[in-house]
Amino acid sequence: MVDPKPSHQPPPLVGTTLEEHILTGMRGSPGASGDFTSLLNAISLAVRIINARVRSAGLAGVFGYTGETNVHGEQVQKLDEYANDVLCTVIERCGRCALIASEELTDVRICNPDASYMVTFDPLDGSSNIDVNVSIGTIFSIFRAPDGGVSASSLLRPGRELVAAGYAVYGSSTTIVLSTGQGVHEFTLDPSAGEFFLSRPNLRCPTRGKTYSINEGNFASWSKGIQRWSLFMKSEDKARGLPMGHRYVGSLVADAHRTLLKGGIFAYPADRKNADGKLRLLYEAQPMAFLIEQAGGLATDGERSILDIVPTETHAKVPLILGSHDDVKLFQEFAAGTRT
Ligand code: AHG
Ligand code: MN
Ligand code: MN
Repeated sequence: MVDPKPSHQPPPLVGTTLEEHILTGMRGSPGASGDFTSLLNAISLAVRIINARVRSAGLAGVFGYTGETNVHGEQVQKLDEYANDVLCTVIERCGRCALIASEELTDVRICNPDASYMVTFDPLDGSSNIDVNVSIGTIFSIFRAPDGGVSASSLLRPGRELVAAGYAVYGSSTTIVLSTGQGVHEFTLDPSAGEFFLSRPNLRCPTRGKTYSINEGNFASWSKGIQRWSLFMKSEDKARGLPMGHRYVGSLVADAHRTLLKGGIFAYPADRKNADGKLRLLYEAQPMAFLIEQAGGLATDGERSILDIVPTETHAKVPLILGSHDDVKLFQEFAAGTRT
């Protein structure tokens, strides 16, 4: 009597590591010099080091503030600074990066001017959630460096030119979600092996979802169109799947990760307090937009695709609306006033 086939495939003896996945994807591609793989390995190492500190934050004395404020006038948390220092050190040391832009660096940092790539990152996203043990993350993106040397303006380019983008979520497990332009793939850290293994390949964002994610506390300062959209999300219309469920973590990586996996919409629109929105184009909106579009979703500022917008300066802000195709399109109709 043959045992019935297990309902699910048993995991492989040894999973596919992040490095193997990248090397497989790069095999035979032009310019697969190994620099790209080394750079992604450096980012993976930095994420593992940050993860170790996040997991013991309360004991490692990294709760709370450094006492400094960053270029955005925000209080810098100790973990923001730690994560930034680790990423800068590991990426500079790998020698494959020409230029770094970081939320926690006022100016861009030139590393190896002859290197082929430039890296942007939000070293610790969701800082307000550090002390309350809610999911936080790290967001990063990689551009090719221009020939003839780099400067601050080298990074003022549309997200369509990205060669890779990804984020880490320090949540109930630690994952890296990555795209090098060939789909979106999730890797989960095996803490006992200290390695990221492929856990969910080819993630796709459903064309519509059941949840909307926005800070409803800003309702009074939204435009009339966005207020009408929010009321529509909460209205009763079973045929249209309304009301939508509401989820809002307050960490972009967590809200975007749920939206990518389950569908629906995340929005941080402009409001009376933040005329250009709150999120930063270079190291929050562009990487998230690259990933969500690679997964079949949309990411706009309410009108234009985020990937077509060219930053005017390193820390430029932008309204960010991302998620399922149908849900983002509906938001845009309300925001434009063509739907009431
Ligand atoms: P960061 O911690 O890197 O400054 O990012 C915080 C961002 C983002 O993670 C999140 O979506 C948003 O701030 C939440 O803002 P509100 O608390 O204003 O809703
Ligand atoms: Mn952030
Ligand atoms: Mn941050």
